[in-house]
Amino acid sequence: MNICSFFFGLTLVILFSGIHSATLTVKNNCPYTIWPATQTGGGAAQLSNTGFELVSQNSATLDTPASWSSGKLWARTQCSSDSSGRFTCATADCGSGQVECNGAGEVPPASLAEFTLGSADGTDTYDISLVNGFNLPVSITPQGGSGQNCTTTNCGVDINAECPSDLAIKDSNGGIIGCKSACAAFNEPKYCCTGTYNSPDTCKATNYSMFFKNKCPQAYSFAYDDHSSTFSCTGGPNYLITFCP
Ligand SMILES: *[C@@H]1O[C@H](CO)[C@@H](O)[C@H](O)[C@H]1NC(C)=O
Ligand SMILES: *[C@@H]1O[C@H](CO)[C@@H](O)[C@H](O)[C@H]1NC(C)=O
Repeated sequence: MNICSFFFGLTLVILFSGIHSATLTVKNNCPYTIWPATQTGGGAAQLSNTGFELVSQNSATLDTPASWSSGKLWARTQCSSDSSGRFTCATADCGSGQVECNGAGEVPPASLAEFTLGSADGTDTYDISLVNGFNLPVSITPQGGSGQNCTTTNCGVDINAECPSDLAIKDSNGGIIGCKSACAAFNEPKYCCTGTYNSPDTCKATNYSMFFKNKCPQAYSFAYDDHSSTFSCTGGPNYLITFCP
């Protein structure tokens, strides 16, 4: 192939593989250590960092390659290694036995920061999801970018403090450390938007999802909750994810 067709081909590859790569900065504003984790969606390669320790007031940056079009972040709490070296966490554990999750997802409940970056028209979308429950307050702030709803989405309330007892996860001291969604707690189609409830017309808010929505109006409270929950930016900004904002 000649040099012209090489560069033409290269340009096409760049155009069709997601235009930009974003830097995700993860900040721990909680007064204790957390263990953030990442999972890439859509069968794409995992980020080089799928789990790490982050002490209070520290930040870490994650670079997403252009091929990273979707994925999520969450944070694990009360983690430790047992005598055999197996690493586990009281909330949002990924079951890998290590600090790195290596592509594994989280055990609910976990507050999720979800991203779809650089879709065909160059738009990023992002949201906070409490669809499977809540473990930590979290916010997402775009750094740069533009658009009417290219703004911070924030679930800054400690939902654990008021979690209904049938949804609460407690630690060994009886403190509430997580709050399951009704879907995660009861696994019923009307809460999980499955079976005959598998559409926006049939799956509606419930008293349980409204508990979460009232606390965090900007976050997803059930699968078809699109009410002011999806945010978007053009221009390929970076993002700051803050736990305990
Ligand atoms: C939701 O309604 C059910 C059934 O009426 C009740 O048992 C439950 O306590 C309610 N939960 C909340 C969070 O309001
Ligand atoms: C933000 O924009 C997206 C995409 O246009 C839209 O689906 C969503 O409803 C908007 N969200 C808000 C909070 O206005």
